[in-house]
Amino acid sequence: MTADLSQGMSNKTRSLTGITTTGTPHLGNYVGAIRPAIAASRNPGAESFYFLADYHALVKCDDPARVQQSTLEIAASWLACGLDPEKVYFYRQSGIPEIPELTWLLTCVTAKGLLNRAHAYKAATDENREKGEDADAGINAGLYMYPVLMAADILIFQAHKVPVGRDQIQHIEMARDIGQRFNHIYAGEYFTLPEAAIEDNVATLPGLDGRKMSKSYNNTIPLWLPAKDLRKAILGIVTNSQAPGEPKDPDESHIFSIYQAFASPEETGAMRKAFVDGIGWGDAKQKLFERIDSELAPMRERYEALIAQPGEIEDTLKAGAQRARALSHPLLARLREAVGLRALGTDAERKSSAKAAPAARVAIQPVVYRDENQTFAFKVLDSKKAVLATQGGFADPKAAMAAAREAIEALGTA
Ligand code: TRP
Repeated sequence: MTADLSQGMSNKTRSLTGITTTGTPHLGNYVGAIRPAIAASRNPGAESFYFLADYHALVKCDDPARVQQSTLEIAASWLACGLDPEKVYFYRQSGIPEIPELTWLLTCVTAKGLLNRAHAYKAATDENREKGEDADAGINAGLYMYPVLMAADILIFQAHKVPVGRDQIQHIEMARDIGQRFNHIYAGEYFTLPEAAIEDNVATLPGLDGRKMSKSYNNTIPLWLPAKDLRKAILGIVTNSQAPGEPKDPDESHIFSIYQAFASPEETGAMRKAFVDGIGWGDAKQKLFERIDSELAPMRERYEALIAQPGEIEDTLKAGAQRARALSHPLLARLREAVGLRALGTDAERKSSAKAAPAARVAIQPVVYRDENQTFAFKVLDSKKAVLATQGGFADPKAAMAAAREAIEALGTA
């Protein structure tokens, strides 16, 4: 790990996204999320965080085997599709204890009314009311708290950009609101305020029935079907009853739009012409199958190999979490200080109560991080992020933080 990453001070754009671990990856996930995310992760100006949102999975799934299996399948899928776990942060949400801890700190600055207005919670209560039931019937508090947990996911790593679907925009806005409120109440720039990044030129794939391919419509084609089952599934996509030889409108065809999501512009142009020339549905589907299969086949082989070694995936996710925690741990230490969860008898801190001038309290900041030798180091930064003091070689983050405090005292500014 480079010092640059561990200090979280690089000026790269940080992008972060989570994948809920409740299902089996399908072609729509691949085209809409996995493929574009992996392409984006290769951009040298980006610093990417991808994580398995397994705490979020518990909100809608109480089947432990399913959560576990989905975690394995999703992790193996991302790796098989070419995600490089050394170049990005790839981890399980439940591997970062700072996330649930931050969730509580954020819960205490979040307006309950804000959560009442969250789309998913509102839809659930509206549905209950329509049925004449108690508004909260059958709704767990996890659904209610979902946006706060998601805010913690994002804020703990100071993400700038959050690539998500349109249905998630409200959650990103809430993360901004909550982060801003914390910054305001505790008078510091603790959190970077994130923005949703909506990829407009990413295809949404139609499913077997022509509606958007989605688990909730039960119209998906699983990503890693063996070739012959993939072919069968593609032959099952609905088409109209036009006969071979009849000219077909490519822009009205699901077969064509799926083809386009995989093919190069030249291939797409040739297929467009074939449609106008009256290609039969059977032939068009065969071509579609061949095109998809040629992209997936090498990855399918990697997927099979990966999934047969769950222990290695486990190790990869653990290593990812360890690297990520080099960032989340020092930030959470600062936040605990900020809210008053402090060692007793730290005079310097007690003096800087909320009544002190906010600017003075944030002007100088200790930052603790794990360095290349796997020991801990601190830096003391001024408001312009200039380094006022630094020292390494501490056995644990606590010792580094204590030394940072002393350095700040010595600077005579605390
Ligand atoms: N709520 C997101 C979804 O359903 C998953 C998610 C959880 C997430 N935490 C996140 C996405 C943080 C982006 C950032 O798709």
